[in-house]
Amino acid sequence: MAAEPGAMILLERHGDGAEVALVTLNRPRARNALCDLLMTQLADTLDQLETDDRVRVVVITGQPGVFAAGADIKEMLPKEFPAVVQPPFLQHWDRLSRCQKPVIAAVNGYALGGGCELAMMCDVIYASDEAVFGQPEITLGTIPGAGGTQRLCRTVGRPLAMEMCLTGRKLTAAEALQAGLVGRVIPAEKLLEEALKTASRIAAMSPIATVLCKKAVNAAHQTSLSAGLQYERDLFYATFATEDRRTGMDAFIQKQAPVFTGK
Ligand code: HXC
Repeated sequence: MAAEPGAMILLERHGDGAEVALVTLNRPRARNALCDLLMTQLADTLDQLETDDRVRVVVITGQPGVFAAGADIKEMLPKEFPAVVQPPFLQHWDRLSRCQKPVIAAVNGYALGGGCELAMMCDVIYASDEAVFGQPEITLGTIPGAGGTQRLCRTVGRPLAMEMCLTGRKLTAAEALQAGLVGRVIPAEKLLEEALKTASRIAAMSPIATVLCKKAVNAAHQTSLSAGLQYERDLFYATFATEDRRTGMDAFIQKQAPVFTGK
């Protein structure tokens, strides 16, 4: 594990070719409150992983019992409007949502406020049976600021998103699953193992198809249906410019497992 003294982000590599990066939020005494230093270290880590060709998939997780308790309230308390409305405040908060490589959130406890928003920036969310999701900003006299009103609405629908944001009511893992906020609920002791297994599975796919697939699915939240369908079709055509597309189809016909090369 690559841990600098005081590192708020821990980085491990998994897989024979180090194709899965495990990023652990590491500020347990503050319940992984997402202070500026932690978010800067997270952005730097993602920059590093994005340019590392060996890394195909990122898994992000927290500490036992807590994924992240949100933005750092102690850091925010003294700030006034002029300081928050201009950089560097929240400068790094959209870095995770801009990651080109697939990211799996393994949520092992509280994912509140910015913690829930961080999870929603990921492509797949697995929750432990002890996970708790919520947007409690309203109880602090403020509102979500990193996608809580927007991504939550698009994911669980307006009525539940509105209720969560207006009341701060938290969802259990089972409720989050039912609402479509998470993909799977897994016993806490198996959560990381399952997330890493899924990451390895994705890492075995064509890297180009993976990136294009992520772009196409994400477009569904950002554009009209007709524009999204056209975008998907164009990206589908683009896979025919790759060797991996031929490799995959050929392997199917030959009844063999495909070995994708990223060409
Ligand atoms: C700063 C935090 C914190 C936070 C916890 N701590 N959450 N510090 N910011 N978001 C600190 C506590 O002050 C305390 O410090 C220590 O962590 C342990 O916290 P406890 O509350 O004693 O732990 P516990 O009883 O286990 O409860 C865990 C918890 C609770 C349920 C997660 O801490 C909690 O409700 N936290 C706040 C959740 C929240 O409101 N999040 C939204 C933040 S606003 P001391 O010094 O006493 O040991 C937000 C806006 C995002 O996210 C906008 C976009 C960027």
